[in-house]
Amino acid sequence: MTSVPSHATTEPLQAAPTLTEDDRQPIRFGILGTGRITRRLVADLQSTPGASVTAIASRTSERARWYADSYGIAQAVSGYADLIARDDVDAVYVALPPSLHAEWMVASAAAGKHVLCEKPLATTVPATQAMADACTQARVHWLDATAWLHHDRTDMFRQWVKGATVPQGEADFRLGALRHVSSAVSFFNPFQSGDHRQDASLGGGCLLDLGWYAAGILRLANEALPLTVNAQAVMRGGVPYRVTAMMNFPRDVSATMSCAFDTSTRKWFEIAGEEASIVCDDFTRPWPDKPARGWVHEASGKVHPFSCECHQEHNMISRLIGWIHATRDDEQLWDSPSPPWAEYHRQALETQRMLEAMETSMTTGQTVTL
Ligand SMILES: NC(=O)c1ccc[n+]([C@@H]2O[C@H](COP(=O)([O-])OP(=O)(O)OC[C@H]3O[C@@H](n4cnc5c(N)ncnc54)[C@H](OP(=O)(O)O)[C@@H]3O)[C@@H](O)[C@H]2O)c1
Repeated sequence: MTSVPSHATTEPLQAAPTLTEDDRQPIRFGILGTGRITRRLVADLQSTPGASVTAIASRTSERARWYADSYGIAQAVSGYADLIARDDVDAVYVALPPSLHAEWMVASAAAGKHVLCEKPLATTVPATQAMADACTQARVHWLDATAWLHHDRTDMFRQWVKGATVPQGEADFRLGALRHVSSAVSFFNPFQSGDHRQDASLGGGCLLDLGWYAAGILRLANEALPLTVNAQAVMRGGVPYRVTAMMNFPRDVSATMSCAFDTSTRKWFEIAGEEASIVCDDFTRPWPDKPARGWVHEASGKVHPFSCECHQEHNMISRLIGWIHATRDDEQLWDSPSPPWAEYHRQALETQRMLEAMETSMTTGQTVTL
C-alpha cells in the first residue's frame, strides 16, 4: 500500500495550527454530559497541545464527581448552567443528546464561551441557525465535533475532486468531472433501553445520528446543497432505523446514501469521476489500529491503495483553538468576508438542511426541492 503524504500533494483548506511551542495559556474546556462520546473526547482534549479540561457537568453531582475523579478533571459541577457560568471555562464541549444541543450552545454563547458541539448540530434547521446567530452575536467561535472533516486525507479528497492530480509516480492521473457520490454509514446495535438514539423526543433515529456523516460526505464532495432529495425510511419505535436517499446536485452530479441502525458497521463512500473513482471504507474514523485508508480506481482497472495517518480529533480541537487565538490577536478577523471557519460552518448548516429535506421527503413521500 502506498502511503500518500497528503500535504506533499495537496494544500489543506486550512492547516491545523501547531500549538506545541505556543507559550499562551491553554484554552480551558468545560464539558456538558458524561455519556459515551465524552469518554473518548475527554482524552482527546486532554492530549491536544494548547487545550485543558477544567470542569465537567452532569445532571447529578454524584456522576459529575465520579467522572471528574476517573478522568482527572479538577472541577465536578452539578447542573449544566453552573458550568457555563464558570470563570475557569473558556470553551464548552456540548456532548448531550441532539435535542439539547441548541439550548446549551445558545446558553454557552450568551455566557461568552466558545462551543464545540456534538453532531448533529441540532434537530431542526431553524435551531441550527439560531445557534450560529447566537455565537456570531456573542463573538464566540463554534464548531461541530465532526472529526473526519479535520483528517488530513479529507483535504486530499477535496483537492482531488476539484481536479488536483492523484500522485502515482510517472502515472499521475485525475478523477475527471464529478458525476456520482454514494455513502453508507451504519452499525448494528441492539440498544440498551433508554438510549437517546431510540427516543424521538431526544432527537433519536439513524437519520440525525448517522445520516449526519453520510450526508456530510455528499455535501463535502459537491461543496453545495442538493437540488432535489428523495428519501425513504424504515421506522421502529417512532424513529428512523434505516434510511435510503437519492439526490441530484448542481453540475449534473447524482448521489445516493444509506444510514442504518440495523446493518453491520459501514463507514463507506465512493466518489466517482468521469476518469477514476475514490473508494473509502473508513471515512468517519479509521478502523481500530489501522491507518486511514482508501483506494483510487482507474478506468483501466488499476487500483491504487493509499493510507494517511493523523489524529483527526487533535486536528479538530487544534483548529478551534487556533481560531480562538487568532481573533484574540486580531479582532478584525471577526469581520473578515472569508474567515477560515466559514466553510466549516457552511458544511454543518447545509448538512442539517439536507437531513431536514430527507425527513420531509420521508414523511410526505414527495421529492423535496431545495
Ligand atoms: N457515542 C458515540 O460514539 C458518538 C460519536 C459521535 C458523536 N456522538 C454524539 O454525541 C452526543 C452524545 O452521544 P452519546 O453517545 O455520548 O450519548 P449518551 O451516552 O446517551 O450520553 C448523553 C449524556 O447526555 C446527558 N443527558 C442530559 N439529558 C439527557 C437525557 N434526557 N437523556 C439522556 N442523556 C441525557 C447525560 O449526561 P449526565 O447525566 O451526566 O448529565 C448523558 O450521559 C450525540 O449528539 C451523539 O450523536 C456520539
